[in-house]
Amino acid sequence: MADLGKVLSGTEMGATIRPGLLGNPEGVEEIPRYRLPEEGMDPRSAYQLIRGEIDLDGSARLNLATFVTTYMEPEAVQLLTESAEKNMVDKDEYPQTAAIEQRCVTMIGHLWSAGDAGSVIGTSTTGSSEACMLAGLALKRRWQQRVQGTSAGPPNIVFSSAVQVVWEKFANYFEVEPRYVPVTADSPYLTAEAAVAACDENTIGVVPILGVTYTGAFEPVQEIAAALDRLADGGGPDVPIHVDAASGGFIAPFLDPELAWDFRLPRVHSINSSGHKYGHVYPGLGWVVWRSREFLPDELIFKVAYLGGEMDTFGLNFSRPGSQVLLQYYNFLRLGWSGYRRVQSELRRVADYLADEIAAIPGLEVVSGRGGLPVVAWQQAIRSKPAWDLHHLSAKLRERGWQVPAYPLPEALADRLIMRAVVRNGFRSDLAEIFVQDLQRAVADLDALPSAPPPVRSAAVFHH
Ligand SMILES: Cc1ncc(COP(=O)(O)O)c(C=O)c1O
Repeated sequence: MADLGKVLSGTEMGATIRPGLLGNPEGVEEIPRYRLPEEGMDPRSAYQLIRGEIDLDGSARLNLATFVTTYMEPEAVQLLTESAEKNMVDKDEYPQTAAIEQRCVTMIGHLWSAGDAGSVIGTSTTGSSEACMLAGLALKRRWQQRVQGTSAGPPNIVFSSAVQVVWEKFANYFEVEPRYVPVTADSPYLTAEAAVAACDENTIGVVPILGVTYTGAFEPVQEIAAALDRLADGGGPDVPIHVDAASGGFIAPFLDPELAWDFRLPRVHSINSSGHKYGHVYPGLGWVVWRSREFLPDELIFKVAYLGGEMDTFGLNFSRPGSQVLLQYYNFLRLGWSGYRRVQSELRRVADYLADEIAAIPGLEVVSGRGGLPVVAWQQAIRSKPAWDLHHLSAKLRERGWQVPAYPLPEALADRLIMRAVVRNGFRSDLAEIFVQDLQRAVADLDALPSAPPPVRSAAVFHH
């Protein structure tokens, strides 16, 4: 990443832009890159200048790195542009947007097996990161209430070392000791036994992931909950669970309805998910839902004006876009349960197809399992010793426009490099076939090199 100081002082790139002939704003010779231009320009020219620059970004369609939605239907885009001015916090000015947010919370609670309509409480957020922070704060505040007046030590929170960076941030920003349970080759996710072993009376919560960002695996929430039940029944601490279902929250209910990972388990107090991942909404939208009001401490709730009265809000931001919430509701109405199931099933089918084809490429080994998120992760076969590594393969695929990152696994497995392709809405089976052909060709080209290629700059950390 560019040095922030350099960017801010304007020394990283030329300090001015010369627009050139095409798209040249009338009479404008040079535009400062890092200072507000003295004069403005006509809207078309401003549009063309920016459009020309962002064309250099990769193609969203060929971006297999991200979980975040890169395609919505034209009607959804129309709704987005028609509601772009709505501020989610202005409940009084936009009461119907506020009402739709509440409807979505209730629908999502129902999707996650909450009881009757209206029993859950929750909110939309800018993404799962904000949702996780809010859920973590509620856990911390409830623990503080519990230990008030005692000589309790500092709070801690338990998750596997494969958690997304948001939990590292939460622990850092809100001063909670993060207890990482290392993932290993034998247990690549949080096990019930290891989770319980990491808990003590100051554990504010355990956070299983549905599913793991690296491999898509669902952590065994039900087993973890049962083990924590036994811990509490045996006189040990009574530790709640928050499920980070950033991606799986919109996959498991449709593809694995028999899997008990949600509010069916009384120990699960709250769940977050990203509407902008498998909820199929453009960024940024997240959701966090508590099983009932009692699990969200009152002091964390603020009131805003609503239809002449007041409405509860809980969030890190004040102003934020309301349009994404409307897009979520659009998807709920447009797809319904059966539509979501159809789309998610197709994504899993494409992921299974990719896994089979990649497993058949000599020298590559698939490391993600069946089920879980529709993602495929692979590594170089342990026994094969080619002169190239997955960074070379990633760079080779980039020549065709595919963006597929290579990155190390967390801590204990950090010497293992993997590549991961996320199957998202819009990555149809015809594209998947072309991808497989390109991958086969890239491996063959690298194998045919007469000597080892020079090293490729690696992404030190990859968080998605
Ligand atoms: C498990 C998990 N938690 C949290 C996040 C953060 O989500 P967001 O990008 O919606 O803030 C991600 C993002 O990939 C994730 O995979």
